[in-house]
Amino acid sequence: HSVGIIGAPFSKGQPRGGVEKGPNVIRSAGLADKLKAQGCSVKDYGNLCFEEVPGDEPVGRVKRPGAVGSANQRLAHAVYTAKTEGHTPLMLGGDHSLAIGSIHGHAAAIPGDLSVVWVDAHADINTPLTTPTGNVHGQSMSYLIRELQSKIPVIPQFSWIKPCVSAKDIVYIGLRDVDPEEHYILKYLGIKVFSMTEVDGLGIARVMEETCDYLFSHVKKPIHLSYDIDAIDPSLTPATGTPAVGGLTYREGVYITEHICQTGLLSAVDLVEVNPQQGTTEAQVQSTVDIAVDVLLGCFGRRRAGNHPADYCLP
Ligand code: ARG
Ligand code: MN
Ligand code: MN
Ligand code: MN
Repeated sequence: HSVGIIGAPFSKGQPRGGVEKGPNVIRSAGLADKLKAQGCSVKDYGNLCFEEVPGDEPVGRVKRPGAVGSANQRLAHAVYTAKTEGHTPLMLGGDHSLAIGSIHGHAAAIPGDLSVVWVDAHADINTPLTTPTGNVHGQSMSYLIRELQSKIPVIPQFSWIKPCVSAKDIVYIGLRDVDPEEHYILKYLGIKVFSMTEVDGLGIARVMEETCDYLFSHVKKPIHLSYDIDAIDPSLTPATGTPAVGGLTYREGVYITEHICQTGLLSAVDLVEVNPQQGTTEAQVQSTVDIAVDVLLGCFGRRRAGNHPADYCLP
């Protein structure tokens, strides 16, 4: 594996400060060295610089359209570049509005379509007309899904976004805080969802087996894994902006990544919504960041059974 780390210190897809510190706190926990220790080569592209957008008034309900639009356009270009340079892009957020740029850039860099595995407490599929908050981190998927475009009003700052994902190529895992309008959209588009109810009923092994059976039933498309840290239970990862009780255990959260890794189809990863300012103690922040790192190590080959280099010889 060659991992291309892209830091995206952006918070304006939601109202809380601190989530822009995510990339640096995750790096400080030793991500790159740990990836190298398990045999990955790593290229760190550093942090993107995002411009201030003066007078960034809402368009309809959508807040900070200028900042969100331009940050995602930059990120799309960075992910496209990392992918075309032969790396598996790893986008460290930042808030989940960044999935717009990350998925857009990934899709542009590969010949056919991609599939999306969205691990989250939330569906982030509100349209600009259904959003209860106006925060774009709760709307990211709506801009990307082809079948939803007739329901998306024109937002000039988002006019560069070309919908690039089909509803049938999306799987959600971990949902437990879904707005009524979002629930309708998921049903209306027939999107595959493994909510926490399915995780409870089937167990995570069955959920991952069914996820792959579903995604691979036609052609095996490259997988974009978009992992919101709030998918994991807030008792373990409290340093996040919109915690929701009843989440994934550490073991379930890591199992998802181990399973996706072993498909050999993982093509880009987002890790978003780590907000060190939302932890009330240093231990809460540390736990959140350490788990984020373990999730990422699982994406790139770490197995809990142990690992050894392919060319290892006993002394
Ligand atoms: N459904 C709510 C909204 O649309 C919450 C979204 C939370 N999203 C997130 N990426 N944490 O505003
Ligand atoms: Mn393409
Ligand atoms: Mn979430
Ligand atoms: Mn999210």
